[in-house]
Amino acid sequence: MKYHSQRNKRLIIKSGHLIDPGQGLDGVFDILIEGGVIEAIERDIPVEYAEVIDASGKIVVPGLIDVHTHLREPGFEHKETIETGAKAAVAGGFTTICCMANTNPVNDNQEVTRFILKQARAAGAAKVYPIGAVSKGLKGEEMAPIGELKEAGVVALSDDGNPITNSSFLRRALEYARYFGLPIISHAEDKMLSPDGVMNEGKISTQLGLPGIPNTAEEIMVFRDIKLAELTGWHIHIAHVSSAGSVELIRQAKARGIRVTAETCPHYFSLTEEAVKEFDTNAKVSPPLRTKDDIEGIKNGLRDGTIDIIVTDHAPHHPLEKAVPFEQAPSGIIGLESSLPICIRLIEEGVLSWPELIRKMSYMPACIFGLPGGTLKLRRPADITIIDPKIRYRIDVNRFYSKGRNCPFHNWEVIGRAIITIVDGNIVYKADLRDPLSLTY
Ligand code: DOR
Repeated sequence: MKYHSQRNKRLIIKSGHLIDPGQGLDGVFDILIEGGVIEAIERDIPVEYAEVIDASGKIVVPGLIDVHTHLREPGFEHKETIETGAKAAVAGGFTTICCMANTNPVNDNQEVTRFILKQARAAGAAKVYPIGAVSKGLKGEEMAPIGELKEAGVVALSDDGNPITNSSFLRRALEYARYFGLPIISHAEDKMLSPDGVMNEGKISTQLGLPGIPNTAEEIMVFRDIKLAELTGWHIHIAHVSSAGSVELIRQAKARGIRVTAETCPHYFSLTEEAVKEFDTNAKVSPPLRTKDDIEGIKNGLRDGTIDIIVTDHAPHHPLEKAVPFEQAPSGIIGLESSLPICIRLIEEGVLSWPELIRKMSYMPACIFGLPGGTLKLRRPADITIIDPKIRYRIDVNRFYSKGRNCPFHNWEVIGRAIITIVDGNIVYKADLRDPLSLTY
């Protein structure tokens, strides 16, 4: 990875296929970047006093945005640090990420929020926006100081990892969050229905003798969340949708004009519960991988816009923590460096077009969470991802910048990846395309 500052330099991205759903742009253009911002998008910009990137045959998009990442710092630096996570992000094509609050200490106070922002600036890779906790210590009992968190820079609130079981508490939190204009991201899970569950409840959990988690555990809470969004008139965002039933509930809620948005992750539309058959702890995740019917439901939700965005839920754990019996392993799958090629499969399958995919991975995340970026409008920061849509290679966890290795896509042959990532006009990542081990054309 090369990090070199070229602020105030002129950079021209030449002849790339520009896809910017925010402006309805879909065609071959040049982009002129100056002073870290986009100065011009035209058919043929003369090359004068500028560094030039030849992007012919490549796709040029607004930098990808992942609003659901676990960076593990402070407290779990053996799993990931803000620096390793931010570097993994740009290697995967993400120029902006939002990090969840389940660190130690929890991000339920200004000191932690400010610490995260400081570490992110020092890392100098992706832009990092913290998500604050809804409740102190993620315990679901006492409200976090929402106004102070907002002042320190959080962009949303979530107890992700833990569901908020007390509906009255969530109602009050939504009312406060509304006052401060912060959406609440819900980890929808009724733990009472699956107290010991470690995988999807069904035929395979019975065969393996593992306690299961039924779809209903998610759907009950999605329904509850929708009703509370309706009651309070405030915005709930449903995290990591895994079940077809949840998609249907969200579809109906949207049709009734309720303020609900939703995300899913690559593993929920490309893997089923079969992935845990060999007790592979790298496929253990919360909510769990489900069935073919759920995948169909999620793809339909992506197609018709019920599911607004795709996130990674990048959840790194140390390899030794995952090298234990399935029931004891922590839940989580990493995604920053595998998400884009897995999502590109949706294009090959005809589920989404390129503009629709970029809308869900950049434009809509920015709109929903009020983040800068997500479009390449003039005078906006030059956060740009250049994608080679044809490159064929094997995903190799040993080459990841993330400290995590818990990726069930290891060794998958895929097509397409980010080859250059630009943040504020600086090239912060350039893929080494000469590497014969990981890449074949
Ligand atoms: O599998 C998961 N891991 N799901 C979550 O919601 C939390 C995450 C983590 O923090 O490891």
